[in-house]
Amino acid sequence: DGTILALTPPMGWMTWNYFADNINEKDIKEMADAMVSTGMLSAGYNYVFIDDGWQGGRDNRNNIIADPQKFPSGIKALADYVHSKGLKLGIYSDAALLTCAGYTASLGFEEQDAKAFANWGIDYLKYDYCGAPDDVEIAKQRYKTMADALRNSGRDIAFGICEWGGRKPWLWAAQAGGQLWRTTNDVRDKWKRRSVEEGGEGILNIMDLNASLDQYAGPGHWNDMDMLVVGLNGKKGPSGDLGGSGCTNTEYQSQMSLWSIMVSPLAATNDLRNMNAETKRILLNKEVIAINQDPLGKQAIRKVDNDTWTVLLKPLENGDYALAILNRAGTTQIADYDFSGFGLNDHYQIRDLWQHKVIGKGKKWRGSVDAHETKLFRLSKTK
Ligand code: GLA
Repeated sequence: DGTILALTPPMGWMTWNYFADNINEKDIKEMADAMVSTGMLSAGYNYVFIDDGWQGGRDNRNNIIADPQKFPSGIKALADYVHSKGLKLGIYSDAALLTCAGYTASLGFEEQDAKAFANWGIDYLKYDYCGAPDDVEIAKQRYKTMADALRNSGRDIAFGICEWGGRKPWLWAAQAGGQLWRTTNDVRDKWKRRSVEEGGEGILNIMDLNASLDQYAGPGHWNDMDMLVVGLNGKKGPSGDLGGSGCTNTEYQSQMSLWSIMVSPLAATNDLRNMNAETKRILLNKEVIAINQDPLGKQAIRKVDNDTWTVLLKPLENGDYALAILNRAGTTQIADYDFSGFGLNDHYQIRDLWQHKVIGKGKKWRGSVDAHETKLFRLSKTK
C-alpha cells in the first residue's frame, strides 16, 4: 500500500540477551510496563521484540501456536496489552524447519505464519537463518518468500533479516524485502573478542565490521549491528551464560554512541525493571538518540582508522554533522583533529552530546579521550 516501513532505525527492547528462550508473558508485560515508566518509550524505544523461544509447535491445522505454559493468554492478548501501552510487538521465526534454539520455524508455512502474525497484531518479524543452507541464492529466495507473505498478510509488518552477515545481505536484503539486516554474528556483553574461536562478537568487533557498509544504509533499509548490551553489566539473567563478562560504563556509552552514529537499530536487551542511574543515563540520552533517528538517515563514514583511533562522521538533515572519536587504546590518549581533514571547511560550534554542553568553537578539537571512550559531538556551522 505504499507505506515505507522503518523510515528511521527501529528502536525497542529485545528479549534475547537477558532471557534467551526463558521468556513468558508475565515478564514481557512487566518489561512493557517498564518501557513506559522508565521513559524508554518517550525516548523513542517503541518496540517490544519477542525473540526465540515463544513457539509451542503447530496445531492439527498446522497453525503455529505459542507455548501454552509460557504464554497462557496467547500472543494476541499480549499484542493487545503492548499496543494499549503505545508500544508495538515484534516476534521471531526462522527460514528453516527449526529455529536457532530448536523451536518450530516457518519454512513451508510462510503464508500461514504471516497471516497468524497479522491476526495477532504483530508489527515486526525477526527472521533467522539457522538450519538453512549456506547458499546466497537460497537465502535470498527464502527471505523473499517470507517478505512477500508479510506484504500479503493484511498488516504492516516490518521485516528484520538475521543471517549474521555471512552471505553479505547488504547487497540483496533490501531487494528481498527486508527493512534491516544483521551484518555480524551475535553481540555479547563484552568490549572485544580475544580470539577467533571465542563465540560471539564484542562491541569493537561489530563496529569494525559494520563501518565499511555505510553506503548500504538509508531510510527503510538499515545495517543491524545487533542488540545494545548496555546495562547487562556482566550479570547472568535467566538466559544463563551466553558469554561475555560485562563492559565498563565508558564502553557501554561507546556502544550507544557508535550504534547511534552508524544508524543501527537500537534494541536494548537489559532488565528494564532494574536499571541503575548509569544505564538510564546512557540509554535515555535524547541528544544521542536524535543522531540515530535523524531523518536524513545517513550512516557515518569512517574518516580515521588506525590502532588508536576510529573517527566517524555523519551528516545530519539540518546541515550539522555528528562526529564520533573513539579511543581504541587501553590508556587515555590526546586527540588532535583539524576538521578540514574530514572535508569540513567551515567554523563550527562543538557540542558534546554526553556532557550536554558546548565545549568549543572553530575548526578543530584537541582533548583527552579515556581508554575505550567515544566522544560524540554535534558540529553546527557558525556564521
Ligand atoms: C541467533 C540470532 C540471535 C537470537 C538467537 C535465537 O543466534 O542471531 O540474535 O535471535 O538466534 O535463538
